[in-house]
Amino acid sequence: MKTEKILLAGATGYLGQYILAELLKKEYPTRIVVRNKAKIAPALLTHPLLEVVEAEVTQTLQGVCKGVSKVISTVGITQQKDGLTYEQVDYGANKNLLDEALREGVQKFVYVSVFKGEMMRHIAIGAAKERFVDALKVSGIDYCIVRPSGFYSDMGNFLKMAKGGKVRLFGKGQYSMNPIHGEDLAEVCVAQLESAEKEVNVGGAEVFTHTEIARLAFEVLHKPVKISYSPDWLRRFILKIGKYLMPKSAYGTIEFVFTVMAMDSVTPLKVGKHRLKPYFETIKDC
Ligand SMILES: NC(=O)c1ccc[n+]([C@@H]2O[C@H](COP(=O)([O-])OP(=O)(O)OC[C@H]3O[C@@H](n4cnc5c(N)ncnc54)[C@H](OP(=O)(O)O)[C@@H]3O)[C@@H](O)[C@H]2O)c1
Repeated sequence: MKTEKILLAGATGYLGQYILAELLKKEYPTRIVVRNKAKIAPALLTHPLLEVVEAEVTQTLQGVCKGVSKVISTVGITQQKDGLTYEQVDYGANKNLLDEALREGVQKFVYVSVFKGEMMRHIAIGAAKERFVDALKVSGIDYCIVRPSGFYSDMGNFLKMAKGGKVRLFGKGQYSMNPIHGEDLAEVCVAQLESAEKEVNVGGAEVFTHTEIARLAFEVLHKPVKISYSPDWLRRFILKIGKYLMPKSAYGTIEFVFTVMAMDSVTPLKVGKHRLKPYFETIKDC
């Protein structure tokens, strides 16, 4: 068993659940801070190395870092519809955690941001995440910022569209990415507890264009390939008017997705044992 205690925030999320499994596999005594304990698998709740604290990371966290050596946070808004903003969660909740970590003399903070986040400061999610990155960098605590490409969990959207008969892309579907599975990314995140890296730009082992991912989805479903390509001006137009017409919570997701759909997201570091086709095979009937 390791001697250092780790605090994990975000354990109820897609990536967080894999990080929790990896921490326990590596025998780290682990405290998780969650707002809903029921989201943790009941079998895990009795794990001898696991301590569960129920708290709202956007509010009070007093004492949550007591006895903790290192923190990992994956906290951020993805699909949540709590009426909170990226500023309150991606920045505010993580800043609360950082303040608490500093108060308790925690040695290191590993934060999961997003690949090319520095280039997305003009959109709400990027602004909030990078504001936290800025705060972390000047805080004096040892840190590592993990910047992943798109997650496999989000690639399910290609499969969903293909099931509906048509995948809709912008431009020529020419942009590339190397999506990463949560299990592969979790290994990278946990490894940063012991590494000297300050920033890790990481994605999966395979690189695809958006068109190739769409084709893969149809192939797995044994359906004819049907991809519609909308002009890029339409993407930019939706981004422009959506800001005024859509509810803030819905627009935030659209703003992020429509921004990354118009850029290459291929990370320098490519890792992992997972492959997209078998992943699609496992989720195609869900
Ligand atoms: N998905 C992608 O393709 C992608 C790519 C790059 C980076 N990222 C970033 O990686 C991080 C993890 O992503 P993920 O897919 O694992 O996200 P996820 O499944 O939505 O998990 C996010 C975690 O944050 C917590 N959280 C969200 N809002 C909260 C709030 N108001 N109060 C307390 N806790 C809150 C969630 O708790 P609950 O379970 O209680 O909601 C959950 O534990 C996020 O910051 C995301 O922006 C994602």
